[in-house]
Amino acid sequence: MPVASRLEEVRNEIGELSRASPTAKDFMLSAAKLLHDRMLKYNWVGFYMLEPGAEPPMLVLGAFSGAMTPHTRIPLNQGICGAAASSGHTVVVDDVSKDPRYLACSLETKSEIVVPIFVDGKVVGELDIDSHFPAAFTPQDQEFVQYCAALVGARLEKSI
Ligand code: SME
Repeated sequence: MPVASRLEEVRNEIGELSRASPTAKDFMLSAAKLLHDRMLKYNWVGFYMLEPGAEPPMLVLGAFSGAMTPHTRIPLNQGICGAAASSGHTVVVDDVSKDPRYLACSLETKSEIVVPIFVDGKVVGELDIDSHFPAAFTPQDQEFVQYCAALVGARLEKSI
Protein backbone atom coordinates (compact mmCIF):
# COMPACT_ATOMS: atom_id res chain seq x y z
CA MET A 1 0.00 0.00 0.00
CA PRO A 2 1.40 3.45 -0.84
CA VAL A 3 2.62 5.37 2.22
CA ALA A 4 0.14 8.24 1.61
CA SER A 5 -2.86 5.86 1.64
CA ARG A 6 -1.62 4.16 4.81
CA LEU A 7 -1.31 7.57 6.51
CA GLU A 8 -4.84 8.47 5.38
CA GLU A 9 -6.26 5.15 6.63
CA VAL A 10 -4.59 5.36 10.03
CA ARG A 11 -5.60 9.04 10.33
CA ASN A 12 -9.24 7.93 10.00
CA GLU A 13 -8.74 5.05 12.42
CA ILE A 14 -7.19 7.21 15.12
CA GLY A 15 -9.98 9.80 14.74
CA GLU A 16 -12.49 6.98 15.23
CA LEU A 17 -10.56 5.73 18.30
CA SER A 18 -10.61 9.20 19.81
CA ARG A 19 -14.40 9.32 19.47
CA ALA A 20 -14.87 5.75 20.74
CA SER A 21 -12.51 5.86 23.77
CA PRO A 22 -14.32 6.47 27.07
CA THR A 23 -11.43 8.44 28.64
CA ALA A 24 -8.29 10.28 27.50
CA LYS A 25 -6.21 7.57 29.21
CA ASP A 26 -7.99 4.83 27.24
CA PHE A 27 -7.38 6.82 24.08
CA MET A 28 -3.64 7.16 24.75
CA LEU A 29 -3.33 3.40 25.43
CA SER A 30 -5.12 2.44 22.23
CA ALA A 31 -3.51 5.21 20.12
CA ALA A 32 0.00 4.02 21.10
CA LYS A 33 -0.95 0.46 20.12
CA LEU A 34 -2.60 1.52 16.85
CA LEU A 35 0.38 3.61 15.71
CA HIS A 36 2.83 0.88 16.70
CA ASP A 37 0.83 -1.90 14.99
CA ARG A 38 -0.21 -0.05 11.81
CA MET A 39 2.74 2.19 10.96
CA LEU A 40 5.54 -0.11 9.88
CA LYS A 41 8.40 2.25 10.69
CA TYR A 42 6.98 3.37 14.07
CA ASN A 43 8.83 0.83 16.20
CA TRP A 44 8.32 2.40 19.64
CA VAL A 45 5.40 4.71 20.38
CA GLY A 46 4.78 6.30 23.75
CA PHE A 47 3.58 9.27 25.73
CA TYR A 48 5.55 11.23 28.30
CA MET A 49 3.44 13.49 30.50
CA LEU A 50 4.59 16.38 32.69
CA GLU A 51 4.27 15.39 36.34
CA PRO A 52 1.79 17.79 37.96
CA GLY A 53 3.49 20.16 40.42
CA ALA A 54 6.98 18.59 40.07
CA GLU A 55 9.87 20.95 40.73
CA PRO A 56 12.07 20.78 38.70
CA PRO A 57 9.59 19.77 35.96
CA MET A 58 9.70 16.09 35.03
CA LEU A 59 8.39 14.03 32.09
CA VAL A 60 6.99 10.68 33.20
CA LEU A 61 6.41 7.70 30.90
CA GLY A 62 2.73 6.99 30.34
CA ALA A 63 1.02 4.69 27.82
CA PHE A 64 3.44 3.11 25.37
CA SER A 65 3.72 0.28 22.88
CA GLY A 66 7.06 -1.40 22.21
CA ALA A 67 9.93 -2.61 24.38
CA MET A 68 10.30 -1.26 27.93
CA THR A 69 12.60 1.79 28.04
CA PRO A 70 15.10 2.65 30.80
CA HIS A 71 13.91 6.27 30.53
CA THR A 72 10.77 6.39 32.64
CA ARG A 73 11.47 9.89 34.04
CA ILE A 74 13.17 12.59 31.95
CA PRO A 75 14.00 16.10 33.24
CA LEU A 76 13.24 18.93 30.80
CA ASN A 77 16.93 19.66 30.24
CA GLN A 78 17.65 16.12 29.00
CA GLY A 79 17.06 14.16 25.81
CA ILE A 80 15.15 14.84 22.63
CA CYS A 81 12.08 14.51 24.85
CA GLY A 82 13.20 17.33 27.15
CA ALA A 83 14.04 19.51 24.11
CA ALA A 84 10.54 19.11 22.61
CA ALA A 85 8.70 19.71 25.88
CA SER A 86 10.78 22.71 26.94
CA SER A 87 10.64 24.41 23.52
CA GLY A 88 7.02 23.51 22.70
CA HIS A 89 8.18 22.51 19.20
CA THR A 90 8.28 19.22 17.33
CA VAL A 91 11.77 17.73 17.17
CA VAL A 92 12.68 15.35 14.32
CA VAL A 93 16.06 13.60 14.44
CA ASP A 94 17.03 11.72 11.28
CA ASP A 95 20.12 10.09 12.80
CA VAL A 96 20.05 9.78 16.59
CA SER A 97 23.74 8.75 16.69
CA LYS A 98 24.66 12.29 15.58
CA ASP A 99 22.50 14.14 18.14
CA PRO A 100 24.28 14.70 21.47
CA ARG A 101 20.92 15.25 23.22
CA TYR A 102 19.73 11.71 22.43
CA LEU A 103 19.01 9.36 25.36
CA ALA A 104 19.26 5.79 24.05
CA CYS A 105 16.24 3.61 24.50
CA SER A 106 17.16 0.75 22.18
CA LEU A 107 20.29 0.01 20.15
CA GLU A 108 18.07 -0.49 17.09
CA THR A 109 16.68 3.06 17.12
CA LYS A 110 17.96 5.16 14.20
CA SER A 111 15.56 8.11 14.06
CA GLU A 112 13.02 9.78 16.34
CA ILE A 113 10.17 12.31 16.41
CA VAL A 114 8.81 14.01 19.52
CA VAL A 115 5.67 16.18 19.30
CA PRO A 116 4.44 18.27 22.25
CA ILE A 117 0.84 17.91 23.44
CA PHE A 118 -0.94 21.11 24.47
CA VAL A 119 -3.92 21.76 26.74
CA ASP A 120 -5.14 25.36 26.91
CA GLY A 121 -1.99 26.48 25.09
CA LYS A 122 0.38 24.87 27.61
CA VAL A 123 2.59 21.82 27.08
CA VAL A 124 1.26 18.93 29.21
CA GLY A 125 3.21 16.10 27.62
CA GLU A 126 4.38 14.70 24.32
CA LEU A 127 4.10 11.87 21.83
CA ASP A 128 7.46 10.18 21.22
CA ILE A 129 8.08 7.76 18.32
CA ASP A 130 11.29 5.87 17.57
CA SER A 131 12.12 4.09 14.34
CA HIS A 132 14.62 1.37 13.45
CA PHE A 133 15.01 3.15 10.09
CA PRO A 134 17.13 6.27 9.50
CA ALA A 135 15.20 9.43 8.58
CA ALA A 136 11.85 7.60 8.96
CA PHE A 137 9.86 10.75 9.73
CA THR A 138 9.06 12.70 6.55
CA PRO A 139 7.20 16.05 6.56
CA GLN A 140 3.99 13.99 5.94
CA ASP A 141 4.74 11.87 9.02
CA GLN A 142 5.43 15.01 11.02
CA GLU A 143 2.08 16.50 10.03
CA PHE A 144 0.35 13.19 10.84
CA VAL A 145 2.01 12.76 14.26
CA GLN A 146 1.17 16.39 15.08
CA TYR A 147 -2.47 15.61 14.19
CA CYS A 148 -2.39 12.60 16.57
CA ALA A 149 -0.86 14.70 19.38
CA ALA A 150 -3.53 17.38 18.84
CA LEU A 151 -6.28 14.72 19.14
CA VAL A 152 -4.82 13.67 22.49
CA GLY A 153 -4.64 17.31 23.62
CA ALA A 154 -8.30 17.77 22.68
CA ARG A 155 -9.31 14.65 24.66
CA LEU A 156 -7.28 15.78 27.71
CA GLU A 157 -8.81 19.26 27.49
CA LYS A 158 -12.28 17.75 27.73
CA SER A 159 -11.37 15.65 30.78
CA ILE A 160 -9.92 18.55 32.86
N1 SME B 1 15.18 8.97 23.06
C1 SME B 1 14.47 9.77 24.02
C2 SME B 1 14.25 9.04 25.31
C3 SME B 1 13.00 8.22 25.34
S1 SME B 1 13.13 6.74 24.55
O1 SME B 1 13.30 7.03 23.13
C4 SME B 1 11.75 5.87 24.68
C5 SME B 1 15.21 11.09 24.23
O2 SME B 1 16.31 11.27 23.72
O3 SME B 1 14.70 11.94 24.96
